[in-house]
Amino acid sequence: MIYLDHAATSPLRLAAREAMLPYLDGRFGNPSGLYAAGREAQAAVDRARATVAECLNARPAEVLFTSGGTESINSAMLGIAYALRRAGAGNHVVTTAIEHHAGLHVAQHLEELGFDVTTIGCDHSGRVQLEEFRAALRPETVLASVMFANNEVGTVQPIAELAEVIREYSQGREHRIALHSDAVQAPEWFQLDVKALGVDALSLSAHKFGGPKGAGVLYLRRGVPFRPLLHGGGQEMQKRAGTENVAGIAGTAVALAIASTDVDGRSAKVRALRERLREGICAAIPDAELNGCQTNCLPNNLNVSFEGIESDALVARLDARGIAASSGSACSNSTWEPSHVLMAMGVPIRRAVASIRFSLGESTTAAEIDEVLAILPGEVAGVAASLAAR
Ligand SMILES: Cc1ncc(COP(=O)(O)O)c(C=O)c1O
Repeated sequence: MIYLDHAATSPLRLAAREAMLPYLDGRFGNPSGLYAAGREAQAAVDRARATVAECLNARPAEVLFTSGGTESINSAMLGIAYALRRAGAGNHVVTTAIEHHAGLHVAQHLEELGFDVTTIGCDHSGRVQLEEFRAALRPETVLASVMFANNEVGTVQPIAELAEVIREYSQGREHRIALHSDAVQAPEWFQLDVKALGVDALSLSAHKFGGPKGAGVLYLRRGVPFRPLLHGGGQEMQKRAGTENVAGIAGTAVALAIASTDVDGRSAKVRALRERLREGICAAIPDAELNGCQTNCLPNNLNVSFEGIESDALVARLDARGIAASSGSACSNSTWEPSHVLMAMGVPIRRAVASIRFSLGESTTAAEIDEVLAILPGEVAGVAASLAAR
């Protein structure tokens, strides 16, 4: 298989797997246990927390382990918005139209809970505009949630600039607006420094950077008001109840430490392969259209539309040739549902339903890219011909 769907999930790194194995086997203690096996498990969680904190330039006490990106995002958005509303700070939340469903649907849920939500758009490249963001802020705004990098088109948002807009807006006000960012797609490609970014909360998912599925991280800045989403035991500093996934936590920390090493070298190598794929596609299929920003973008993401095709049909044909890629649209009950991200970017529907995402990884090789380039034009032509004959 030529795997070009790393934005969906990435293979477990060997070192992460090895870090997990002892806790799936003999060292099965519950970190809450007061005996040796419990202390051993707690020590593993503490070590992992210190490692993750170092990778993010945070304090260990600001790092919570969760069950993944979705839980981190839910906890951050609901937990902060709830706590600030209870403190009388306000009832308004700002987010964007291009968030992953994990953020988009939480924003809808916040509306059901009586919050007033402003959803800002983006330009044709998928970038949020600072002026539009600034204009959306209100005295009663408690939370802004903007993703770091888009999972479909790879566009990277100006998070540090958005934090600066908030800082200026909040000056002289009693309550500071909290900024959360879904940075699930960022590790491996960007050095994440929560202080430099100026965020109050940041969400990560381990399986996107070589860690295990079902494990995630929530950075929560010290002092940010927060009401836990999960109630129960006092784990995770009273902020996330439930017995810790010790093996998952150990694997997450090791994977993040590797992902945070030589970010520039990894990005440059993968960006060169992405360019090879982009140039090859544009040369062989002249009416191919690129989606997303080509400069402020994830180095591993190439989202492209092919005139006259339906993306699911192309994904199926590529799969039959041993290539794993992803479609930007979902076909349900024979009805095309174009991607909400491409729609927000103003991409025409015919182009949105014809979009394919190739997401490369550290293990992707030039030979694999060349093989895809040898196969893709014929398969695109095949889908277009069969649709034209319908
Ligand atoms: C940008 C983004 N946010 C959130 C998620 C959800 O992460 P998880 O699958 O770990 O819950 C994903 C996963 O695709 C993602 O790409």
